[in-house]
Amino acid sequence: MGKVLAFANQKGGIGKTTSAVNIAAAIAARGKKVLAIDCDPQGNLTSSFGINKKSLRTTTYELLLGSAKPADAVTATPFKNVSVIPSNISLAGAEVELVAFDDRATRLKKITDELKPSYDYIILDSPPSLGILTIDALTAADGVIIPMQCEYFALEGISQMMLSIRRIKELYNRDLQITGILLTMFNPRLNLTYDVLRELKKAYADKILSETIPRSVRLSEAPSHGMPICYYDKNGKGAEAYERAAKEIMKRI
Ligand SMILES: Nc1ncnc2c1ncn2[C@@H]1O[C@H](COP(=O)(O)OP(=O)(O)OP(=O)(O)O)[C@@H](O)[C@H]1O
Ligand SMILES: [Mg+2]
Repeated sequence: MGKVLAFANQKGGIGKTTSAVNIAAAIAARGKKVLAIDCDPQGNLTSSFGINKKSLRTTTYELLLGSAKPADAVTATPFKNVSVIPSNISLAGAEVELVAFDDRATRLKKITDELKPSYDYIILDSPPSLGILTIDALTAADGVIIPMQCEYFALEGISQMMLSIRRIKELYNRDLQITGILLTMFNPRLNLTYDVLRELKKAYADKILSETIPRSVRLSEAPSHGMPICYYDKNGKGAEAYERAAKEIMKRI
């Protein structure tokens, strides 16, 4: 039975999608069957796997609205053991349309429950907000990875995120685990990095993953080639970091 892992942080541009894509690919490269579900209307995960957002037929949107079956949305990729349920801007409509449904928070969970027997891991990428799409992802997840940049405002963001996780646990998903906080775009040469890390450790020492992801130009280039880093630059420091982080995450979940 597959494990569902959500990547979430309401702060934007901190490496959620980059981490979801590259952890998914790294786990898959280790021989596990992985499905990545794009739960963000920006569709960045979709294009990071080389899928054209404009020519999609069945997306996360149709699944959440109940007008298509999960199996119809699963899209193959050229990458070993990785399939994707894509999304595009149409998913923005779901934020509004789902309000009409009483079961709006558990709709994605129904979908992942149906798909779980067919995969080892289901990876969810969520948008930079604590809206219904992120709530659905956290409700469906067994574990959440919180990617974070070592910057001052990130500390405020993380306590907000922890509050939301607590609320989701109370309301929808008692068993949700915080699998780990993943430090992204990590720069060991900055004093600020250590100041933030010190504060973070005071509150969440046991949650911080020991593997960190360095800033790397190759990591930021890979999506424009529609490739995860372990294919785009497989011997680079970005690929190595995500490979090690994937191993640590697999151990934790
Ligand atoms: N380790 C890294 N080194 C260099 N650039 C990175 C790294 N991680 C992410 N980036 C770049 O930073 C930008 C934001 O990353 P990403 O899209 O993964 O963040 P996000 O949290 O998913 O953003 P959003 O909140 O908009 O969904 C992208 O341009 C990405 O290529
Ligand atoms: Mg993103």
